[in-house]
Amino acid sequence: MSNKIITLDEFIIKRQNEFLYDHDELTGLLRDIGVAAKIVNRLVNKAGLVNILGKADSENISGDTVQKLDLYANEKLIECLKNSGQCCGIASEEDETFLQFPSIQGKEANYVVAFDPLDGSSNIDVNVSVGTIFAIYRRISDPKIRVLKKIFYKRTALVAAGYVIYGTSTILVYTTGSGVNGFTLDPSIGEFCLSHHNIQIPKRGNYYSVNQGYYLKFDIEMRRYIDYCSDLNLGLRYIGSMVSDIHRILFQGGIFLYPVTRKYPDGKLRLVYECNPLAYIVEQAGGKAINGSLERILDLQPKKLHEKSSIVIGSPDMVDEMKAYVERYSASKMS
Ligand code: AHG
Ligand code: MN
Ligand code: MN
Repeated sequence: MSNKIITLDEFIIKRQNEFLYDHDELTGLLRDIGVAAKIVNRLVNKAGLVNILGKADSENISGDTVQKLDLYANEKLIECLKNSGQCCGIASEEDETFLQFPSIQGKEANYVVAFDPLDGSSNIDVNVSVGTIFAIYRRISDPKIRVLKKIFYKRTALVAAGYVIYGTSTILVYTTGSGVNGFTLDPSIGEFCLSHHNIQIPKRGNYYSVNQGYYLKFDIEMRRYIDYCSDLNLGLRYIGSMVSDIHRILFQGGIFLYPVTRKYPDGKLRLVYECNPLAYIVEQAGGKAINGSLERILDLQPKKLHEKSSIVIGSPDMVDEMKAYVERYSASKMS
């Protein structure tokens, strides 16, 4: 077996024939996201040295406190995508509305990128891993129709998804619907190199992951299921950066839950740029993702850009077990 390093760019080009549409555009977009990831990584790495830690004195549309680094990451992603010519617009956690890009040299681009520029912002100042999540949606409308609703509010429009984790090492994981692969940034050559080929999530794991501090604010079914996890002697791991929790689960197995609470009656995580891309990756790796009403995340039809959802995601057997548990519990309550 050869030990040749395979860079992200080489890999994307090698696999581009697997895309159903517009190979070159999607290839270009993924490469641009790779470049943006390196820029954000550089910022995250030196954040404490260049006065970009701390709050930015604003709230985003979801009511979260915005950090300076959220805004930097957002700006860098937009810059990289805007100049690519492959993206007709972006939807970001940090921008209230869809941001439409003008066509370059009269060419109407076919893809919209939705992203969470920095996931786990509350962890930035204390040097705990954070991430970037992205979802690439293919425009389903006539290019002249420049209304977001017509562009990607259709579940089948999701064609690629990925995340970058800025952790002990920086890793980019993505799927275009033919398996999941991971690339570690080698800082000495400044390239993402293939390090995790064809990732397969274990059928079950030894940890569950939920903000147990909100236990009393969860519905009774969810509380009983969490008790059940504890009865099974599962350990609890919760980082507060969903990307990091999902990354662990992809490799070690386990289940992540963010149920509805009194404070977040529709759940906290956003469907278009958090739940959908992570559900796509996890499913592509053999896992499952549903909401608290036991519907498959990827079957949900978003009605608005910043729509929220509850989520249960992870190892297939554990998600199935959670579903069966809640169904049994709800039936016994009725009888
Ligand atoms: P973001 O930093 O993009 O707003 O996302 C934070 C999310 C998610 O990453 C994490 O799992 C969750 O919010 C943590 O929320 P709680 O502090 O309510 O548990
Ligand atoms: Mn997030
Ligand atoms: Mn964020």
